[in-house]
Amino acid sequence: METSSSVSKAFILFLSIALLLGTELIQCSVTYDSKAIIINGQRRILFSGSIHYPRSTPDMWEDLMQKAKDGGIDVIDTYVFWNGHEPSPGNYNFEGRYDLVQFIQTAQKLGLYVNLRIGPYVCAEWNFGGFPVWLKFVPGISFRTDNGPFMTAMQGFTQKIVEMMKSQNLFQSQGGPIILAQIENEYGGISKLLGAPGEAYMNWAASMAVGLDTGVPWVMCKEVDAPDPVINTFNGFYCDTFTPNKPYKPTMWTEAWTGWFTEFGGTILQRPVQDLAFAVARFIQRGGSFVNYYMYHGGTNFGRTAGGPFITTSYDYDAPIDEYGLVRDPKYSHLKELHSAIKLCEQALVSSDPTVTTLGKGQQAHVFSTGQGICAAFLSNSDSESAASVLFNNKRYKLPPWSISILPDCSNEVFNTAKVGAQASQIQMSPTNSILLSWETFDEDIFSLEDSSTLAAIGLLEQINVTRDSTDYLWYMTSVDISSSESFLSRGQMPNLTMVSRGHAAHVFINGQLSGSAYGTREDMLFTFTGPVNLHAGINSIALLSIAVGLPNIGLHYELWQAGILGPVTLHGLDQGRTDLSWQKWTYKVGLQGEAMNLASPNAVSSAEWFQGSLVTQGQNPLTWYKANFDAPEVDGPLALDLLSMGKGQAWINGQSIGRYWTVYANGNCSACSYAGSYRSPKCQVGCGEPTQRWYHVPRSWLQPTQNLLVIFEELGGDVTKISLVTRTSS
Ligand SMILES: *[C@@H]1O[C@H](CO)[C@@H](O)[C@H](O)[C@H]1NC(C)=O
Ligand SMILES: *[C@@H]1O[C@H](CO)[C@@H](O)[C@H](O)[C@H]1NC(C)=O
Ligand SMILES: *[C@@H]1O[C@H](CO)[C@@H](O)[C@H](O)[C@H]1NC(C)=O
Repeated sequence: METSSSVSKAFILFLSIALLLGTELIQCSVTYDSKAIIINGQRRILFSGSIHYPRSTPDMWEDLMQKAKDGGIDVIDTYVFWNGHEPSPGNYNFEGRYDLVQFIQTAQKLGLYVNLRIGPYVCAEWNFGGFPVWLKFVPGISFRTDNGPFMTAMQGFTQKIVEMMKSQNLFQSQGGPIILAQIENEYGGISKLLGAPGEAYMNWAASMAVGLDTGVPWVMCKEVDAPDPVINTFNGFYCDTFTPNKPYKPTMWTEAWTGWFTEFGGTILQRPVQDLAFAVARFIQRGGSFVNYYMYHGGTNFGRTAGGPFITTSYDYDAPIDEYGLVRDPKYSHLKELHSAIKLCEQALVSSDPTVTTLGKGQQAHVFSTGQGICAAFLSNSDSESAASVLFNNKRYKLPPWSISILPDCSNEVFNTAKVGAQASQIQMSPTNSILLSWETFDEDIFSLEDSSTLAAIGLLEQINVTRDSTDYLWYMTSVDISSSESFLSRGQMPNLTMVSRGHAAHVFINGQLSGSAYGTREDMLFTFTGPVNLHAGINSIALLSIAVGLPNIGLHYELWQAGILGPVTLHGLDQGRTDLSWQKWTYKVGLQGEAMNLASPNAVSSAEWFQGSLVTQGQNPLTWYKANFDAPEVDGPLALDLLSMGKGQAWINGQSIGRYWTVYANGNCSACSYAGSYRSPKCQVGCGEPTQRWYHVPRSWLQPTQNLLVIFEELGGDVTKISLVTRTSS
């Protein structure tokens, strides 16, 4: 009995293994070797493009991906945004812009592959690097290191995503589109700083991921020690010197930067496509086989998703598809031609190693030949000043400076990275026939001594600890009693208030009047406000509105970085000299009254006292809510709000936040830009002296035909009558 049962069990096991092996041969698999990712037995040269699902709306996804496919993209790359998916512990959101499964199925429908970069640390100029802010408050937690509470949480989320993908058969091993997955993100630098605990954590992360048994390879980008079988990959403007840590891993470039992000009041950078194409061709000619463009479509940081502080709401990135989903030429078309030229060489590239010969000073030939008549050549000129004429296989080729010619048959040039045929897109933002009607205003109360507060403390509190990032805003309020004998009252010289904040911005109100504002920067969040304040004899209220403008997304243990007015807060010019207010009683209010009343929502209970008509046009008042109605414009095409006339704040359409706005001006040096020569950050700026962001994307799908509600919260003062709805066209 016993024996026969084990025998039959063994037989069944044998049968199922045979079946498994058998099906695997004819079914799906992703593996790799030193040359390339191997899909169903074929080595592949793959072009990939980053498109982040929450940075556009679901109705845009298919069009974005179809354009990517038409542009020669094989793979859609996305991070997974934990803080969007798990807004509070155990409460998940996979709806709307966070419908990850639908996003991946859209790629599948179009015949595209997916690289799923789970992270769950993603950086990405995204709020808190993608981590939910509640994670910071898990007892005993320490991010991205050998720490039990962190590793438990990270494993839980990673496993949840992998299980979700498996349940929908989305891994390529199951017949789905996901060919690669990423664990962690750019960990190498952090690992070095942390030493042994960093190394232990990284090894744990790799084996945890591999243990999830997805049937597709895992990658770690910018992590030279990635343990087998995880593939280490590279991110940067160029990928000329990177080699994987083992000779049996393929050379993969998971982020080829197509441009750069923008911060409010910073510089606006563009990357010339001739240089980007040159970088990609240079990578392929040295044996690289996987290139992902970061970003291929950058999109929009809707709501409060921008990282920071001070990352703009636009995440356009100078990508081949612009923020609004329109093709950006010549970038898009030139890369498309590059991709088809390289695909003509695919057979040669995956089946041989290059033979390199020198053709001149700075000129080389990389020849891929199988010896069976298959031959492809890349002729390069790395001289950034001069064109070159080179002799190759008894033929002359003219190579512009800083360029590569591609010869898929080792004879005919089909493409040169510096010879751009496509015309530049002409972008226009044109008025629509939509009129913003019946403006009304609501004055946000300035926190004052009469207000009751649920929170008071001796001393100054850290902002995120109080708000848990449920809002950008935290009021700090205290009072100061000025004796009528103070000599400044008769001298007429106002005392100064000095306030030190850890970030990110603050407005100072004295007795209900705006006294001034101060701002940190992304590089230096700490800032000091100093200014004269109008105090009178008796009790004066000092109300400080502290604003977090996106939480940091990068840096060693950024979860410990503080925000808010941590002091000291001092008065100068009183008879007793410097007066420190830091350690007196402060009261606190989390968020705005208008937020508590849900003023931005079309379903808000309308107990709010909105004022109509002429008050609006007079209003240049700080801390004011505005609303108006409009009908959807009759024109087709993407829409934007022109907020040039406004100061700083947030805007909503039909209750959905289109993001933070701030009219500050780009600084920098917009002198002529040459594509030739190494691209580095200050090079090729545009928009000097113009607002870093003037237009704010309004997704079509957020509009109804009539009676759309626009709500604006303005912190400083602006002219809402000059706001308009415009359409973006490209020709
Ligand atoms: C955060 O707030 C709690 C009380 O809610 C307090 O005990 C703790 O010390 C605060 N932490 C920091 C870093 O301010
Ligand atoms: C206030 O600050 C200004 C600028 O730093 C300075 O010129 C002025 O003397 C200060 N006033 C007092 C009362 O300290
Ligand atoms: C701007 O950049 C150009 C080119 O790099 C340089 O020659 C010029 O001096 C710069 N101008 C300023 C004002 O820095």
